[in-house]
Amino acid sequence: MIPGSDSGPRPIILDTDPGQDDAIAILAALAAPELEVLGVTAVAGNVPLELTARNARMICELAGRPDVPVFAGCDRPVRRELVTAEHVHGSTGIDGAELPEPTTALQPQHAVDWMAETLSAAGEREITICPVGPMTNVAAVLEANPQAARSIKEIVCMGGGFFGGGNTTPAAEFNVFVDPDAAQTVLRCGAPVTMLPLDATHKALMPRSWIDRVRALGTAAGEAAAGMLDFYERFDIDKYGMSGGPLHDPNVIAYLLRPDLYRGRHCNVEVEAESSLTLGMTVVDWWGVTDRPPNCQYITEVDADGFYDLLLALLARLP
Ligand code: BDR
Ligand code: CA
Repeated sequence: MIPGSDSGPRPIILDTDPGQDDAIAILAALAAPELEVLGVTAVAGNVPLELTARNARMICELAGRPDVPVFAGCDRPVRRELVTAEHVHGSTGIDGAELPEPTTALQPQHAVDWMAETLSAAGEREITICPVGPMTNVAAVLEANPQAARSIKEIVCMGGGFFGGGNTTPAAEFNVFVDPDAAQTVLRCGAPVTMLPLDATHKALMPRSWIDRVRALGTAAGEAAAGMLDFYERFDIDKYGMSGGPLHDPNVIAYLLRPDLYRGRHCNVEVEAESSLTLGMTVVDWWGVTDRPPNCQYITEVDADGFYDLLLALLARLP
């Protein structure tokens, strides 16, 4: 029996490529009593796998949760070369945080095997999967075990962008661009999928005063989070002329806790996996102009104040 599967906290698997915004998502999830993080899985994305697996453990330790198992997964997309984003996140992926090397060991099992095993031991629609990096790990599980989709309550992912274009190419958002085939597998798996794309995350830019409030928590987690956010937001401000950086990945956790903060539409979303011009584009049939069946709750609106209030309250629970 999966802990928390009856009426207790919602069991989730957090699939990450930390990344400063992934790090805040991990902290928020570990702080939320409504969620039971069964494990954190790492994938190659913002930085190579060795670093994302290291960073995930450092962040669990920062949250005072060295007991949360961290598994390393795929070190590259199945069909493509890995693309990373050190120019955004720094050479470690979590530049800006002054943290000690992790003391907890990585789990010996491959993340894909652990996820498959956990899903096969679970009941129908029991586990929520939260991918906030390229979806390589989750796709590998679904491809090898298509029946695993039955145990998934929902896949709530950060990825995609349609109305406002991409952040990695004019057409593609980073997580989908890095592994478009994996994103397509996830969207077609039959489990309920909710997507938090750039169309939503770019509507909740971090106010400078909010980062100051995070630092003013006066805790180790608050200090490290503020340091990471200082570093992380400079890229979006410089590149896009935004007033603050969008904090993409924690939107997944906020959506789980407060879906009322978000609005979107259940519609068909497909991924372009062939064209060199638009590779990784999420093609959203918002107006239902095709007969392709809806496969995704595509989120486009967020209550930014509600999101940042919730996130601050979660971070305030940490040591
Ligand atoms: C996504 O790409 C990464 O750089 C972030 O961690 C986030 O998951 C935003 O496009
Ligand atoms: Ca990420």
